[in-house]
Amino acid sequence: MRTLIKNGTLATASDLFKADVLIEGEQISVIGIDLAPKVGTVDKVIDATGKYVIPGGIDPHTHMDMPFGGTTSADDFETGTRAAAFGGTTCLVDFAIQPQGGSLRQGLDEWHQKAQGKACTDYSFHMIMRDVNKASLAEMDTLVKHEGVTSFKLFTAYPGVFFVDDASIFRAMQKTGENGGLICMHAENGPVIDVLVEQALAKGLTAPKYHGLTRPPRLEGEASNRVIALAEVANVPVYIVHLSAKEALQEVREARDRGVAAFAETCPQYLFLSHDNYEEPGFDGSKYVMSPPLRTKGNEESLWAGLKLDDLALVATDHCPFCKKEKELGLDNFSKIPNGAPGVETRMSLLWDGGVRKGRIDINRFVQITSTAPAKMFGLFPKKGTLAPGCDADVVVFDPEKKVTWSHKTHHMRVDYNPYEGRTTVGAPSHVFSRGNLLVENDKWLGKAGAGKFVKRNARKTEV
Ligand code: URP
Ligand code: ZN
Ligand code: ZN
Repeated sequence: MRTLIKNGTLATASDLFKADVLIEGEQISVIGIDLAPKVGTVDKVIDATGKYVIPGGIDPHTHMDMPFGGTTSADDFETGTRAAAFGGTTCLVDFAIQPQGGSLRQGLDEWHQKAQGKACTDYSFHMIMRDVNKASLAEMDTLVKHEGVTSFKLFTAYPGVFFVDDASIFRAMQKTGENGGLICMHAENGPVIDVLVEQALAKGLTAPKYHGLTRPPRLEGEASNRVIALAEVANVPVYIVHLSAKEALQEVREARDRGVAAFAETCPQYLFLSHDNYEEPGFDGSKYVMSPPLRTKGNEESLWAGLKLDDLALVATDHCPFCKKEKELGLDNFSKIPNGAPGVETRMSLLWDGGVRKGRIDINRFVQITSTAPAKMFGLFPKKGTLAPGCDADVVVFDPEKKVTWSHKTHHMRVDYNPYEGRTTVGAPSHVFSRGNLLVENDKWLGKAGAGKFVKRNARKTEV
């Protein structure tokens, strides 16, 4: 199959220029000016006049089909990658989980089974580690060297579920110093949060907003400071996931200023929503129960500044949807509300509308934080994350004027609410290619389940 995308403006993390793109098979083969007369017969021509041609979004933080909080996240690899593609994202890195008392291999096999034959876009896995011991430390080497799983998530939060102690985190970090992996940290002080939760419940404070109030930003700042210190002593880079609070950002910034390889992602929910959402009537505040929680209004401006100055490397989604019925597990007790919210479909449009259109970031930075930086951070570059001959043809034709009014009735995520219900964003994909296959054309689904492939990722090559 040969497809010519003509008359578009190509945007990468560094360049912006008018050109045509020839896709042959699964890859971009030629980028050049006025290619039509030069490339012979093609099977399909897409006129991208007035549109941008950008690398497909890469979302390095999703939870498809994930058992959590007494239930399972609502999107599986089919519905989740399909929704991602509608939103302009063509590759996910999802979190496989080491089972309690089990091995990393068991977790990896389980996640391969979940995705196999279902994924519509390419995907890869991080590994969540619940037990750091001799065996699992040795398995880290195998995953990095042979399985293309080069990043590991550990938690200072969720005692009894995912929490591991500082010594375990430190040992895992030292291991990545040997094998080139990357430790991703959920940084909140879980044990202290549990005390605050217990005290709130004892006072009869059970509503969703107490989820936010029992997870103060200072405890995200404290845990961020701690994991950065551990990484500094282990002499390895560290990546903080779903950074929400300016207190945590300040720790990352100070570390980076003194030359420490501390990286962090934030998520659209922390840029576009706030603690006020917990005050929505009835039990609607439960829709926003996630960890870390939404922060008070004004915090988001610090995050935008962090994104501008590269103290925040990229924007992921932490897509972890639960339907309203599932959220009701915590009707009488906010601590029983499954933590997580949908976002895999809305990320690109929200960031275009609230970032590029509002003048907070330019187009190159948009491409960087949605695609190039995730690809580089997690070992997918240059196969993915940019537009160049030889790259996978994960390509999005992005219409900067296309309006979308978000609603659970029309979105493609398998969840019965949308955190941005009724919000109109300007800027959305018109065409989405995954390895040369056209998945979405003007809101029409042309993709198929099982066409997405597992991508083995590279380990870090540079010294810290
Ligand atoms: O609330 C969240 N973030 N749910 C998903 C699990 C995690 O901590 O990323
Ligand atoms: Zn987390
Ligand atoms: Zn997550």
